Amino acid sequence: MSQEGLLRPGIAQIRVLDMDEAITHYVERIGLDMVGKGEDGRVYLKGYDEFHHHSVVLREADTAGIDFFAFKADSQQSVDAFRKRIEAYGLEVDDVPAGEQPGTGARIGFTVPSGHRIELFAHMDLSDQAPDTRNPYIWKSEPRGMRAQRMDHCLLYGPNIDKVEEFFTQVLDFHLPERVDLPDGTLAIWMTVSNKAHDIAFVNHPEPGKLHHLAFFLENWNDIGHAADLMSRYDISRDVGPTRHGITRGQTIYFFDPSGNRNEVFAGGYTAYKDHPVRVWDHNNVGRGIFYYERQLNDAFLSVVT
Ligand SMILES: [Fe+2]
Repeated sequence: MSQEGLLRPGIAQIRVLDMDEAITHYVERIGLDMVGKGEDGRVYLKGYDEFHHHSVVLREADTAGIDFFAFKADSQQSVDAFRKRIEAYGLEVDDVPAGEQPGTGARIGFTVPSGHRIELFAHMDLSDQAPDTRNPYIWKSEPRGMRAQRMDHCLLYGPNIDKVEEFFTQVLDFHLPERVDLPDGTLAIWMTVSNKAHDIAFVNHPEPGKLHHLAFFLENWNDIGHAADLMSRYDISRDVGPTRHGITRGQTIYFFDPSGNRNEVFAGGYTAYKDHPVRVWDHNNVGRGIFYYERQLNDAFLSVVT
């Protein structure tokens, strides 16, 4: 039986070329809090409105991109049950011991048919800097930079999108609010385990394991404008926006971190219930789907990935 709500976005581990530049970008500009640095040099970050220890991990490496995207489950029993279903589907599952990241319990990992490593875990400590829960203020310390509330979703590029959809919907109980169908097959899928328009999305692409963007949630359209002001002030490389997506209806800016990883700041988006029909875009309208105001894709959207 399919059950909603057992998983949610947990951790994105991103590769960066220069850690000092990356910290300035993600902490000072996007506004995440730095919660720790490991002995191996990895840096742990969270948004001011996130309860758990961290949601973004930066790892210095020779190439940019994404190491893995992890979903947090509601319990270890759920992780164990998913493990059986993943193995029955035919994917190999490996184990990451508790404590490999601070405050984080044991994780399982596997590679989906697009070449991306996905992980599941049940436990993460609550952060000392978590939002208040008793008579709470909106925030404890004044949000910084673009005022990112949380890590929201990622868009990944790789092959075998039909298989990816089958795996996420049949094995991990995601549902699919939206897709782009070209005459020769599916170009892109937006999938969710919540009421958000997407928790993860994929675009068909010949090279496996690529990152298109990692997105951070802002409160509203005014904050998207404020983020654009900061991008000009600090000479941050901007790709597209401020604009709006027809797909998800989110308000958005795409921009790049100093290593070339694309980021997004995202606000709004519709509510996605599991019993809604799938919204489908065809090749004549995909430009409006991706960029609602421009009504056409830019070259970078389909070609620049890390
Ligand atoms: Fe996005």
